[in-house]
Order: sequence, then C-alpha cells, then structure tokens
Amino acid sequence: MNSPPDLNRIAGLYPWMEAVTFGPWLSWCRAGFLGEMGHCRRALVIGDADGRFTARLLGANPEVEIDAVDTSTAMLRALIRRAGRNAARVRAYCVDARLWQPANPPYDLVVTHFSLDLLTTDEVRALAEKLRGVVSPSALWVVSEFEVSTGLFGRLVAGPVVAGRYLGLQWLADLAFTTLPDYRGALGEAGFALQRRRRWLGGLLSGELWRTAEARNLPPA
Ligand SMILES: C[S@@+](CC[C@H](N)C(=O)[O-])C[C@H]1O[C@@H](n2cnc3c(N)ncnc32)[C@H](O)[C@@H]1O
Repeated sequence: MNSPPDLNRIAGLYPWMEAVTFGPWLSWCRAGFLGEMGHCRRALVIGDADGRFTARLLGANPEVEIDAVDTSTAMLRALIRRAGRNAARVRAYCVDARLWQPANPPYDLVVTHFSLDLLTTDEVRALAEKLRGVVSPSALWVVSEFEVSTGLFGRLVAGPVVAGRYLGLQWLADLAFTTLPDYRGALGEAGFALQRRRRWLGGLLSGELWRTAEARNLPPA
C-alpha cells in the first residue's frame, strides 16, 4: 500500500489554488446534490480537505452529524475551524480511509468529493466494500470526480487538465500514481448503483448520486 499523499503543507493554500485553477466550478459540483441530503442524519465525509463542503452541509442540515476522515491534520483543523458553531456535530478522524474502521454506523450518507481519485481502483473497491457493510439500506453516496471522456474534448482539454492536476499532486503532495481509478466499476462491484448524475465544465466534472443496489429503484432522493 502506498503512503497517502501529504497535503499538510498546502492546506492553507488549498482554497486559493482551487480558486485560481477552477474558479467556482468545483464548489458548484460539490453542492450539486446538497438539496437531496436534508433527511440525512449520520454522514461520513472522506477527504473534504479544508471542510468547505462539510460547513455547507452542516449549515443546510441542522440535524446531521458528520464523521470527517482525512489523513491531513492541517486540513482537519481547517475543517473544524470552518464548521464554527456547528463543530460539535463533527467528529474528526485523522486516519487513512483505507485502514479506518468506521466508528459510528450505520451511515445514511457518504460523501467523497475529488478524493477517490487519490486511490487506485482496487483501493476504491476495497473501501466501497467496507462501506457497503456500514451504510443503511437507503443510504446515499455522493461522489464528485474529474472525468476524461473519449472524444475530442477529452483528448484536448480534460486529459491535459487531469494530467496537470496529478502532476501538481505528485510535486506538492508526493502522490504515487497518475491515473484516474475506475471508481464507477469499483462502486458497482461493491454493491452500489448510480442513480443520478450531473456534469459541469463540458463533462470535465461529474457529480454523482449513488445508492445501494437494492435501493436503486427507490424514487430519487
Ligand atoms: C485533493 S484533496 C480534495 C478534496 C476536497 N474534498 C475537494 O473537494 O477539493 C483530497 C483530500 O483527501 C485527503 N486524503 C488523501 N488520501 C486519503 C486517504 N487515503 N484517507 C483519508 N484522506 C485522504 C487529503 O489529505 C485531502 O484533504
């Protein structure tokens, strides 16, 4: 197992780097299914970095309690700070999600925004299999990820953008690999089914709502 990337040294810069490279688009993508999370009570948020999404979820849903998992102490400190007066509803776990034993199941919401792409396909599958055992039957899993489509846009725009992101993460955070995992295949094999999907920036960003396979025919969340 590779060491997880070390984002401690860029924690303070992270929101600025994002603003310069993607403007508001990542934030719009993260919030794409926020409106569907109003009924959720116990959420697991993996790799939310400085906690901008966590703060929004806490603000939008006054009853949700959140387990936040991240390997970076600096990011988790920022996440708790950003949660402000809602911080009492957050439990922070500074641990590698690949090794973590979920602490407060069952979860009715899992959130991974732009963090599955720091794992290999096998690691995403193993994580999803572990989470399948600790989510409620009607749980939601909200995923945001980059996507490189096969057409011209993929070759000329999305491919270079994603390659640039991986190069940056290799350089700044010692990330050990450079390709997007097949997270859709991995989630499907672990017993989750894609229910809805939204795209931003011509398909470069994909926001997805997954449910357990047995809940796939339930009305949209
Ligand atoms: C690229 S950042 C992005 C995240 C943020 N959710 C966003 O939407 O911009 C990935 C985050 O996941 C954390 N991370 C990376 N690998 C991890 C792992 N194996 N377990 C837990 N957290 C991890 C990093 O420390 C970082 O905070």
